[in-house]
Amino acid sequence: MSVTAIAHPNIALIKYWGKQAGDGNLPATPSVSITLDDLASTTRLTSSPDADDHITLNGESAIDPKISACLTMLRRDFGIPPVSIDSDNNFPTAAGLASSASGFAALITAIDAFAGLNLQDDDRAVYARRASGSAARSIYGGFATLGPPDWVARPVLTPEAWPLNVVIAITDENRKSVSSSLGMKTSEETSPYYEPWVSSTARDYEAALKAIADRDFERLADLSESSCLKMHGVMQSSQPPMIYWRPATLSCIHAVREMRARGLPVFFTIDAGPQVKAVCLPEAVDRVADALADITGVLSTRTVGLGAGARLLET
Ligand code: PMV
Repeated sequence: MSVTAIAHPNIALIKYWGKQAGDGNLPATPSVSITLDDLASTTRLTSSPDADDHITLNGESAIDPKISACLTMLRRDFGIPPVSIDSDNNFPTAAGLASSASGFAALITAIDAFAGLNLQDDDRAVYARRASGSAARSIYGGFATLGPPDWVARPVLTPEAWPLNVVIAITDENRKSVSSSLGMKTSEETSPYYEPWVSSTARDYEAALKAIADRDFERLADLSESSCLKMHGVMQSSQPPMIYWRPATLSCIHAVREMRARGLPVFFTIDAGPQVKAVCLPEAVDRVADALADITGVLSTRTVGLGAGARLLET
């Protein structure tokens, strides 16, 4: 028995940073994301040769507490036999490129088929969220939300409905030093900006949904850059501070702002890592990619479009 699923990372435009109290891994802030194409986690499940689970990540045998916790969570609700998990990312892992989002969306989708659970999309999104909040959004392609009232991720627009491009500027390929879960807890406990971050994100979320419905790129650009900078303000004002940016990260921010000021339809966003994602309309993509590739400290760039949700490749 072998099942393979694929899922793509998603990049939040309105960010999730912070968790609600209680169970279920509910975010403190609602979020809106775009799912990318091209970058992917591909996860193959086979029956374990013994009574244990086995995990191989990017070709190396691994002990991964988050994957083990995900299996334990699912086994509370379903009978899932011992399994061998073999997962590969075609991009740097745990470096602020949302590898946990694509990884867990692919894993839940694969387990669903492997164990014959017949989960609906909503249910896959709930289990993905419990494993890693942002993973819920990678169940869907195009634009997706994770917000009130039920904090179940939902699709908003297909990739074709508003085909944006994203130029990713890689400024550092190392794994990040602070996990998102620990970082969020630190921010909640120590940043003086945490409360205003949570309350203002609820307003940004509603405004972003309207901008997306109106295909209003400029409005979405303002809201997205503001959400990104507010989140990094919270991170940087936490104790100990989380400063994910490299010098080239800041150079990219300035370059994108200058291009935008000259009238190019582009804006930046950055997650818990040093990479910059420049979101643009297709007519701007070549100039944006050339400009970011020229910046000192940018190791490489990748240009992607919007992609599909998590799905099976073969069974
Ligand atoms: O899903 P987690 O726990 O890895 O948290 C993701 C947090 C950010 O990527 C920084 C923002 C987001 O909404 O994806």
